[in-house]
Amino acid sequence: MRSLTVGLLVGAAGPALGLSPLDTFYPPTLNQTSYISNASIGTYGGIYTAPTKGPTGGNPYGTYDYCAMPHPRSQEYQLPEPIAKGSVKGQLVYLEYLQRHQRRTPYNILPGGENQAYECNNVRPYLYAGPNSASGIQPMPMYAQTYQDSTNPFKPDVNGTCQYPQITIGGVQDGYQHGQDLWNVYGKKLGLIPKQPNDRVWFRSSNSALTQGTAGAVLRGVWPTYDGALPLHQMASSVDTVNEGYSCSAISSTLSQLESTTEWQEHLSVTSGLRSELGSMLGATSSSWQGTFDHFSDNFQGRLCNGYELPCSVTNSSACVTMEMAEEVFRAGDWEWNYYWRTNPYATKYIRVVEGLFIGEIIAHLQAVQDESSSLDYSHTFIHDGDIGPILGSLGINALRWPAMGSNIAFEVWKTEGKSSAFYARVLYSGQPVQTIHGTLDWIPLSDLIQIMSPYVPDDITSLCG
Ligand SMILES: *[C@@H]1O[C@H](CO)[C@@H](O)[C@H](O)[C@H]1NC(C)=O
Ligand SMILES: *[C@@H]1O[C@H](CO)[C@@H](O)[C@H](O)[C@H]1NC(C)=O
Ligand SMILES: *[C@@H]1O[C@H](CO)[C@@H](O)[C@H](O)[C@H]1NC(C)=O
Ligand SMILES: *[C@@H]1O[C@H](CO)[C@@H](O)[C@H](O)[C@H]1NC(C)=O
Repeated sequence: MRSLTVGLLVGAAGPALGLSPLDTFYPPTLNQTSYISNASIGTYGGIYTAPTKGPTGGNPYGTYDYCAMPHPRSQEYQLPEPIAKGSVKGQLVYLEYLQRHQRRTPYNILPGGENQAYECNNVRPYLYAGPNSASGIQPMPMYAQTYQDSTNPFKPDVNGTCQYPQITIGGVQDGYQHGQDLWNVYGKKLGLIPKQPNDRVWFRSSNSALTQGTAGAVLRGVWPTYDGALPLHQMASSVDTVNEGYSCSAISSTLSQLESTTEWQEHLSVTSGLRSELGSMLGATSSSWQGTFDHFSDNFQGRLCNGYELPCSVTNSSACVTMEMAEEVFRAGDWEWNYYWRTNPYATKYIRVVEGLFIGEIIAHLQAVQDESSSLDYSHTFIHDGDIGPILGSLGINALRWPAMGSNIAFEVWKTEGKSSAFYARVLYSGQPVQTIHGTLDWIPLSDLIQIMSPYVPDDITSLCG
């Protein structure tokens, strides 16, 4: 085993624990702090490495893969059981698809400095504007090119040619594959996505360049030869209902409450040795690095998912983060996500204030289908982990690991034929029916799905936000 690469070792942990790919999504003890401190759990079969270039397919398909989460693929896609068995006839009539952006450079640069450069010359983040008519001026397709100027007395915190965060070439290539696979399932096989974009498809993103760049790559995969532009809808950033756009003081006050519980404190105390070792090695002793595992996870994931090594101290090149340390960081991060959106005593309120308005928008789309008044067949929204997490929380997912790069939720609505024609829903999380406290959401009346999510929609967000 010693001669294998790190990637293979991490991937091999699943079989070692006797886990199927689907099992890797649902660690049964994720809600206990012993999940963090028990080193023999490793990554619980999860994958955390990828080469610089993609696409990365996941190996085997369906495994929790931080760098590129699985998504529906025609090779593995299964029809809902009643349709597959022929006990009912019906067809897919609506798809609400949500996804996190694809892989990227990190948000969080080590305060003590980074010992490796990041290179982004292999990717072009496009940015240009033009009139809303093909007969008007057609702009030059300009793209951002990050560079360093030796006359600038301020040196960037990390060497190289990237912004933090930005989509990487692997993220673009994974996104294109993601779109191709969606076309093969929902276009070619099921006939829902049209051959060309029409007025029954709708796209939205957050105000972040990460989600916008992802949309261009994914939708090119859906329609490789389409020769035109498409609207990517965005709300005004000050009132955006995704990515914590609107301001709401109850978001931070609820977060403080849930971070004051004995469970939260216990997860900090079982990791105090790890946090202090990483803190002194990497200059990361401030509360923003020590109070949660968000920054360490983000920094290590950004390196491992784009073909780089874990960091070393810039002042002592033999003091390096080991894979065992990184695995404990990742287990702690997963514990935190499960705590934020599933098990903390304020979880319902936290989901309502952070994501309730967007959950209400999803319900409105589903209700329109139920009422046979939908103006859409396919809606695709490009968002963030901080959106995917609370939506999975509202569904009551049995265990929630950090919703990783390209993680996705497909709300499928099926209409059965015949006298008792009715609408059924199924919800796929990263390609598989999601396992929840309400059972596996594989074939349930659409109205039941609406009932499951409705308690998370605030009646009065203004008073809730305070
Ligand atoms: C974790 O989940 C299990 C199964 O759902 C439950 O029995 C247990 O009480 C939970 N533990 C904690 C610490 O929340
Ligand atoms: C640690 O995890 C392993 C693998 O899941 C399990 O077999 C073992 O019982 C755990 N040990 C403790 C002390 O929880
Ligand atoms: C920055 O990276 C470039 C390219 O990898 C390298 O040539 C240069 O020496 C690095 N500069 C510093 C200050 O490390
Ligand atoms: C550098 O790090 C190594 C490994 O952690 C440690 O053994 C050594 O004492 C450190 N050297 C200095 C000068 O701090």
